[in-house]
Amino acid sequence: MSTEDLNKVSDTLLAEIENTGDLATLERIRIATIGKQGSITELFKTISKAPPEERKGLGKRLNHVKELCEKAILERKQCLELEELQKKIAAEKIDITLPIRPEPHGTIHPISQAIDEMLAIFCEMGFGVAEGPDIETDFNNFTALNIPPEHPARQEHDTFYLPQKDGGTRLVLRTHTSPVQIRTMLSQKPPIRIVVPGRTFRADYDSTHSPMFHQIEGLVIDKKTHMGHLKGCLIEFCRTFFGVDKLPARFRPSYFPFTEPSAEMDIGCSRAGGGLKIGAGADWLEILGCGMVHPQVLGHCEIDASRYQGFAFGLGIERAAMLKYGIPDLRTFFDSDIRWLRHYGFSALNLPNIAEGV
Ligand code: PHE
Repeated sequence: MSTEDLNKVSDTLLAEIENTGDLATLERIRIATIGKQGSITELFKTISKAPPEERKGLGKRLNHVKELCEKAILERKQCLELEELQKKIAAEKIDITLPIRPEPHGTIHPISQAIDEMLAIFCEMGFGVAEGPDIETDFNNFTALNIPPEHPARQEHDTFYLPQKDGGTRLVLRTHTSPVQIRTMLSQKPPIRIVVPGRTFRADYDSTHSPMFHQIEGLVIDKKTHMGHLKGCLIEFCRTFFGVDKLPARFRPSYFPFTEPSAEMDIGCSRAGGGLKIGAGADWLEILGCGMVHPQVLGHCEIDASRYQGFAFGLGIERAAMLKYGIPDLRTFFDSDIRWLRHYGFSALNLPNIAEGV
């Protein structure tokens, strides 16, 4: 092929590449020219048929045309790719004036929320968190807590018993979180400072009782822990939890087999106008049971009662949550009604952050 002819081929090809409007056509041109069986590639095969003195020159010219084509194809390719990208970006432009699509959000159950808030308060006071199993031994749930087999307190607890195994001891669904006091004192040496949130069970069902409910237990054992610490700790807890600065509080003498002395704590409230409002007012509301750990209980856990003493308390979580969040019926906590959860549930973003304080 003469130089002129080759130049003509090259010019037409370059013009064609230049005018290609899309990547697929460009790829077709590449295959048809410099591909394995492309027209330019085929021309290389003519070199061997040319007279020997022309071969070198022809080879050089062919290589030059090939390089020109390669370069032109690459440049056109980059150009077309950029155009395609710009077209795509223009088409995908986000319309920020569009209203957002509603996304379904889950909510935090008020019980979980209350537990999280309570733990945040106690953790800031230096308490650790302990847990125990729902199924307990008779010893941990009763006997070690100074409630021997024939004690009348056992009847008051409306206990769910598990079927008795031959010769084995009777297991129970724990009637309170207090057995975790025993578990902790048996496995840990004082000083002890723990709170225990968890499920508890009693055969009882009405608008203020559910057979499964939650408690949070507290236990502090040290050398000089006294009733003043108990009062200070619980008053501070209630004020923070209910968010009432000068929340009135009083401790009434009471009875629990595992504490001596025992007390019930009331907080001030007002029932004026039909509603219940926590804070200053003419009325009192019982909120928790507490007392100084009975020396007999310390003895059951091999803690020397002449060297160590401390306090314990137990509080119903549903009741506290009902009061704080204005939930009227305890049974609704466990109905699993999605509408109820949407109404009373909490956003996951509202969980208290222990590091930041409450
Ligand atoms: N366990 C008691 C109850 O369920 C509450 C309590 C705990 C009282 C710790 C005193 C000390 O009623």
